[in-house]
Amino acid sequence: MAKFIFRVFLAVILLFLSNRVNGKANFKDVEEKLKQLNKPAVKTIQSEDGDIIDCVEIYKQPAFDHPALRNHVIQMKPSFDLKELKINSKNESSKLTVFQTWQKSGSCPEGTVSIRRIRRENLLRANSAQQFGRKPQEVVLKSNTTIEHKDGQSPFFNNTKFSMPTIVNRSAATLVTVGYNYIGAKADINVWNPNVESEDEFTTAQIWLKAGPGDNFESLESGWMVNPQLYGDKKTRFFAHWTKDSYKTTGCFDLHCSGFVQTSSKVAFGGALEPVSTEFGQQYYINVGIFMDPNTNNWWLKIKEDLIIGYWPASSLLFYLNHSSTIVEWGGQVYSPKVKKSPHTKTGMGSGQFAWGLQGNACYMDNIAIVDFSMQLKYPQWVDTWVDEEYCYTAYNYQEGYGTLPVFYFGGPGQNYNCP
Ligand SMILES: *[C@@H]1O[C@H](CO)[C@@H](O)[C@H](O)[C@H]1NC(C)=O
Ligand SMILES: *[C@@H]1O[C@H](CO)[C@@H](O)[C@H](O)[C@H]1NC(C)=O
Ligand SMILES: *[C@@H]1O[C@H](CO)[C@@H](O)[C@H](O)[C@H]1NC(C)=O
Ligand SMILES: *[C@@H]1O[C@H](CO)[C@@H](O)[C@H](O)[C@H]1NC(C)=O
Ligand SMILES: *[C@@H]1O[C@H](CO)[C@@H](O)[C@H](O)[C@H]1NC(C)=O
Repeated sequence: MAKFIFRVFLAVILLFLSNRVNGKANFKDVEEKLKQLNKPAVKTIQSEDGDIIDCVEIYKQPAFDHPALRNHVIQMKPSFDLKELKINSKNESSKLTVFQTWQKSGSCPEGTVSIRRIRRENLLRANSAQQFGRKPQEVVLKSNTTIEHKDGQSPFFNNTKFSMPTIVNRSAATLVTVGYNYIGAKADINVWNPNVESEDEFTTAQIWLKAGPGDNFESLESGWMVNPQLYGDKKTRFFAHWTKDSYKTTGCFDLHCSGFVQTSSKVAFGGALEPVSTEFGQQYYINVGIFMDPNTNNWWLKIKEDLIIGYWPASSLLFYLNHSSTIVEWGGQVYSPKVKKSPHTKTGMGSGQFAWGLQGNACYMDNIAIVDFSMQLKYPQWVDTWVDEEYCYTAYNYQEGYGTLPVFYFGGPGQNYNCP
């Protein structure tokens, strides 16, 4: 009885806290959402960084909550073999891949997938349980006009000016390619830990594969991110995101909604990456690739040459991307209510240094490649850089010498003398 009263008391306190202190997510919604998100584990791994990794039976993962995936039969591995082209001959020895902190504390058994547990605190930080784990909607400043950017410059492809939308609360520095149908894209993404000023902001280094109309596009994304509201700290973490309506009502980060089908027991979305690169010190990277399986239309995601995480089943989940992507972007994005205005946010992008700092100073992406229907990895024919606020974050596609492929550098500190 005493125990029961204590529990009721605890529940009342929690209810009070969730409503009063946060005034955001509703208590009942949070409990329901937690139950729905965290599947029963056959094994649990306590990571030294505080994360809990649940090893969930592969057929009990969140994907099966999706109405279109109830009877989905998991494809355990890609039906194709993409020969990795090492198209850049950079100093491989000085480039080391990173791993996830939790992997030091154990591994998930075969037949399971590794999923980072979502905690009550994570959900309480969200604006609502429904909104939890989703990217804020992209609101284009003037959707039907060709925007003349105050600071930015429009990219050129095939002698044609391409207009990029100006998006509220977001600032990007990217390398863009259009003009063909893409069924894959990859890059080695240099890993850093830039500053994020406040909890409602985040910064990414990622790849986007998009298709569909500008106000309702589909997008598959992956890379690293610092996102305190989502993850509860300022560590650099591996993430993925998808949407089929430009972030309006569908899709989410990681496995925070159903859609992505995980096959790996070795990597967990949202797991912290370490070590991270240091200025003029050792550089670390992740090898992110997203490739469509021509036989199943599943878009496979991998993080290392041979480490496949799973796939987005496009034939059930997506429409335009069920065929191909028509625009690929590589680079960084800062989400903050304090971009495109003054005082500007101090949230950094990339390493927090401008692109012209180059190797060891700025964040890079190299071994950039796309795949077209020839199923060959190649450097895209037309690429151009794009920045929203050139005094805050920059982009520089740098070609070291004749015959070498460019390395894309991007990032910046946010607020500085020229970006007040
Ligand atoms: C390439 O790697 C070698 C061996 O680690 C090192 O001595 C050299 O300085 C590196 N060169 C560059 C350009 O980083
Ligand atoms: C943009 O949309 C508004 C209202 O929908 C319309 O009045 C205006 O003519 C459009 N502008 C262009 C350039 O299409
Ligand atoms: C490039 O531009 C030329 C001339 O405008 C056009 O004929 C061609 O279709 C374009 N190529 C692509 C892939 O868009
Ligand atoms: C995706 O494309 C396949 C053929 O490639 C087709 O069978 C399937 O119905 C399509 N799915 C959607 C959602 O359009
Ligand atoms: C931009 O951020 C502010 C502050 O968080 C928010 O109130 C507003 O709705 C956001 N606007 C858009 C279009 O996302």
